[in-house]
Amino acid sequence: MVHIDEAAIAAVGRLFKDQVPENSVVLDLMSSWRSHWPADHAKKRMVGLGLNQVEMQENPDLDESVVHDVNVNPVLPFDDESFDAVLITVSAQYLTKPIETFKQVSRILRPGGVFIVSFSNRMFPTKAVLIWRNSTDRGRIDLVGTYMEAAENFEGIEASFVNADTSPPDDPIYAVFSRKAHAG
Ligand SMILES: C[S@@+](CC[C@H](N)C(=O)[O-])C[C@H]1O[C@@H](n2cnc3c(N)ncnc32)[C@H](O)[C@@H]1O
Repeated sequence: MVHIDEAAIAAVGRLFKDQVPENSVVLDLMSSWRSHWPADHAKKRMVGLGLNQVEMQENPDLDESVVHDVNVNPVLPFDDESFDAVLITVSAQYLTKPIETFKQVSRILRPGGVFIVSFSNRMFPTKAVLIWRNSTDRGRIDLVGTYMEAAENFEGIEASFVNADTSPPDDPIYAVFSRKAHAG
């Protein structure tokens, strides 16, 4: 089962192509069956981190997968500055320690590395945190931007509605993205 429809998947892929340089080392955080990586955009390596090894083994984009619950332990099992890009796709609503998790994303990103959090309005309501459930789409954009600000080391925080405007979208896709600040 994929978690968003075809048009939304295409929109996410375009966003990755626009924001992540070719031949990057990428972490798909909160990963599953698919990472929605565009076929025409080369990457050096992609690691998935999620709850379900079976799902991640089916994911054709992943070179490696790690089972790890970021809510139980926000400390990500990766070296400092080891990724060029970190993606959280249609999953941020399940983070119960988002600021700790986002601080970890900053630690493992190289300076200038990109962090892309994209989301739709779909969710398992019983699993999503209350503030997410009770927000509007605009409120969720603010919330993710606030997580990034609170994590302190991200700059150039931007948000956008990423669906093509040529056809009415089924699943809307919003993205908040930023870059890890360079030291000094
Ligand atoms: C809606 S799915 C999205 C999967 C994938 N990112 C995608 O775009 O299709 C939510 C994913 O978040 C992962 N997840 C949920 N809670 C998590 C946690 N506490 N730690 C790590 N991964 C988590 C699950 O393994 C699940 O695959």
